[in-house]
Amino acid sequence: MSDRLYIFDTTLRDGEQSPGCSMNIEEKMRVAHALAALGVDIIEAGFPVASPGDFEAVHRIATEVKGPVIAGLARAASGDIERAGAAVKPAGDRARIHTFIATSPIHMQAKLRMTPEQVLERAVAAVKQARSLVPEVEFSAEDAGRTEMDFLCRVVEATISAGARVINIPDTVGYMTPLEFGGRIRELIERVPNADQAIFSVHCHNDLGLSVANSLSAVENGARQVECTINGLGERAGNASLEEVVMILRTRSDRYDITTGIDTTKIVPTSKLVSGITGMPIQANKAIVGANAFAHEAGIHQDGVLKAKKTYEIMTPESVGWATNRMVLGKHSGRAALKSRYEDLGIEMDNDRVVDVFERFKALADKKKDIFDEDLMSILSDDSDIEDERVKLVSLHAASGTNDAPVAAVELDIEGEILKATAEGDGPVDAAFKAIKSLVEPNGKLLLYAVNAITAGTDAQGEVTVRLQDGDRIVNGQGSDTDIVVASAKALIAALNKLPNMHAREVHAQYSGV
Ligand code: KIV
Ligand code: ZN
Repeated sequence: MSDRLYIFDTTLRDGEQSPGCSMNIEEKMRVAHALAALGVDIIEAGFPVASPGDFEAVHRIATEVKGPVIAGLARAASGDIERAGAAVKPAGDRARIHTFIATSPIHMQAKLRMTPEQVLERAVAAVKQARSLVPEVEFSAEDAGRTEMDFLCRVVEATISAGARVINIPDTVGYMTPLEFGGRIRELIERVPNADQAIFSVHCHNDLGLSVANSLSAVENGARQVECTINGLGERAGNASLEEVVMILRTRSDRYDITTGIDTTKIVPTSKLVSGITGMPIQANKAIVGANAFAHEAGIHQDGVLKAKKTYEIMTPESVGWATNRMVLGKHSGRAALKSRYEDLGIEMDNDRVVDVFERFKALADKKKDIFDEDLMSILSDDSDIEDERVKLVSLHAASGTNDAPVAAVELDIEGEILKATAEGDGPVDAAFKAIKSLVEPNGKLLLYAVNAITAGTDAQGEVTVRLQDGDRIVNGQGSDTDIVVASAKALIAALNKLPNMHAREVHAQYSGV
């Protein structure tokens, strides 16, 4: 019998902490459903005490997402634990509180200003309180990588005695090297007397590019839960990437007799979904999910692959969900077929939502003959269905050419009032952005503009992500359309709708700027 490794996904918590990666509640729900369909064992849904929005997201995920354990993060403090317990409660016997406190000398002295004995006492109290609220408690010794080993053993033993059934050893600052980190896990398992009563977990950051190697070394030394994120998102340089950890174990099953519950064919669609929502592009040469991960350029490689794929491919693109863009639906498909296809992709919707999504599907099918799974996902990523839609795109006309100055005319519905503007720009997208921005305030500083072709072909939909900054607030918007200028305008408007005080400009320039 092979061993089972539990995959703890923290895209919605540590991943969401990456600069510019914050998600609204609908986006978090979409990611959570996709993670459940992917087959992760635990979803860390957020940090409930951080804000009412975080609480609501964790609570909704615990209520609606079936399958994985739902974890809420809490510092080792009574208020945090109470809040986390309330947020994950709807998950019932799948509810977990993940509580943590720092144990390294630098964190205890400089950050917590606590003695080791106080930290130990607080950790035990936190685990006991959490145990009284939920069936499963995970304890993390933050900055365990730099924690003195004797003290770490004491903390781990005491928290297991207090009721923690998962002990997480984070390399919070990405400082460890693989042999050293694996050695720590082995030493803990060997030295802590009640180690057999807990699952050992690791949570590695990527500051030195070693997060996956360190996680793997920990698994080789007895860890049976890995905390990771889609596309390796996370604080600073990120966390261990889920797709890499999972595919190493699978591809090198000759070396690791360890399985996961991940449906690897859903890796690429999930990665694209997260990238689209967060606006965090995937580098082309990123392992597994990068656009070039299976592209063979050199003639000698192409020749080899044509003769025998295994010459240069250690796993197939299909096994991770590439090239699975089968045509699934078209113009004549009905509502039931659409709903059922979404269910296959792990997305459940109620009837009202199906009616709305079906309308958008039909509009797309009118423009594009073949509708692929990626198109279906992009219909959902299109933020034009967000609840607080104060600005809507009514019409857009853009013109450009080799000898003409690019110009765009837009018509927006701003809280019921129809406003128009025209502007010139460096290109049609620039002109459209200038025209839209002339009608609203605040209109944010453009931090990111990214375009992605969802499928192949010149009729492919373009998916655009726009990131705006207004003061200390950073928001993302996505839009998709077969016309890239329209997709860009939709993405900008989606982002503008997320700026809380955004409204029509008092004196707006009707047909200005030309
Ligand atoms: O990096 C870290 O130590 C964390 C803990 C909260 C697990 O994210
Ligand atoms: Zn972390």
